[in-house]
Amino acid sequence: MALLQIENVTRRYGALAAVEDVSFSVEAGEFFTLLGPSGCGKTTLLRMIAGFESPDAGRILLDGVDLADIPAEKRPVHTVFQSYALFPHMSVAENIAFPLKMAGKDPATVRTRTREALAEVHLDDKADNYPHELSGGQKQRVALARGLVNKPRLLLLDEPLGALDAKLREEMQIELINLQKNVGVTFVFVTHAQAEALALSHRIALMREGRIEQMDEPSRLYSSPRNRFVADFIGNINLFEVEVKDAGTSHLRLAAPGLGEFAALPRTGIQAGKHGWFAIRPEQVRIGKHHDVELKNRFIGRVRDFLYIGDVTTYKVELENGTVIEALMANSDPGRARFFEVGDEVTVAWRHDAGHFLDE
Ligand SMILES: Nc1ncnc2c1ncn2[C@@H]1O[C@H](COP(=O)(O)OP(=O)(O)O)[C@@H](O)[C@H]1O
Ligand SMILES: [Mg+2]
Repeated sequence: MALLQIENVTRRYGALAAVEDVSFSVEAGEFFTLLGPSGCGKTTLLRMIAGFESPDAGRILLDGVDLADIPAEKRPVHTVFQSYALFPHMSVAENIAFPLKMAGKDPATVRTRTREALAEVHLDDKADNYPHELSGGQKQRVALARGLVNKPRLLLLDEPLGALDAKLREEMQIELINLQKNVGVTFVFVTHAQAEALALSHRIALMREGRIEQMDEPSRLYSSPRNRFVADFIGNINLFEVEVKDAGTSHLRLAAPGLGEFAALPRTGIQAGKHGWFAIRPEQVRIGKHHDVELKNRFIGRVRDFLYIGDVTTYKVELENGTVIEALMANSDPGRARFFEVGDEVTVAWRHDAGHFLDE
């Protein structure tokens, strides 16, 4: 049985359904992420799991037990917020010890557990400091330690890294992964940052307007988006309109207006005449001189722009029908990177299994 089960949960504010008929389950030990744009219902969902809000419909079960009648303070769940929510007049050790004291643990247990938690977040030497003496990253580590010290079944994290700058954020992401692995507590993590979700999670539920659009492992969400919203929200992607010319069992033949036909992977339930979009990631698009490119799915275009950022160069290539397609080239050859120039005629190409036909 899954540790956490969310069954057809809905929460309304007046006419607005902040969360609408959402179902999923989280396994013990999992790092599960709710991802989506601001306002899509992530925090509302988390608050219902914590017990700060009640669903209007549906059930939330922990270890098979319906939480409906269990108040927030009785749930074996702890929430970590972006704002840290530390007590400014308490030292680091006192902040971490607080939940243990509230739970009436004896002084020896409080001391041992606090020391263990400090070690888990690498703050042994900051036990006697006060929150205002700490950096943002250190404060968030105290908040995490305080969240874990009572050994909750579930740690809920609502955009915990949102206040940190990019470099620190990356460091904290690695710490979070290690921490979760070491302590083995189940995480339900909320973020609007897709790269963060991909880097951290075992599974991601991508939400839009109160509903789950797709739930999958990061690499599947990235490589097999179900629709344009998912394709566009996760990473960068080229999307352009196409019509299905032929739907065979081994491949689809797609036609892009003013450009021509090309092959793509087959999809069940798709028939000739269907209009939709072709989605392909920039790193799946090859760019070269005509004779360099052996792939059959190929079109001629002109370099309109390129952006060199060291490890990779991104080219924007305008095709004959005006479609601009992005191609990412790794600068992996030794020596100084060589470029196509703006205005150069190039061929862009991709394997037939590199992109997806999307009908919504
Ligand atoms: N207490 C509330 N009263 C009215 N509307 C709310 C309340 N809390 C959230 N909402 C609305 O519900 C929707 C989802 O909000 P929220 O769960 O905070 O989204 P997220 O965390 O994904 O940014 C938003 O449209 C928000 O304005
Ligand atoms: Mg929120």
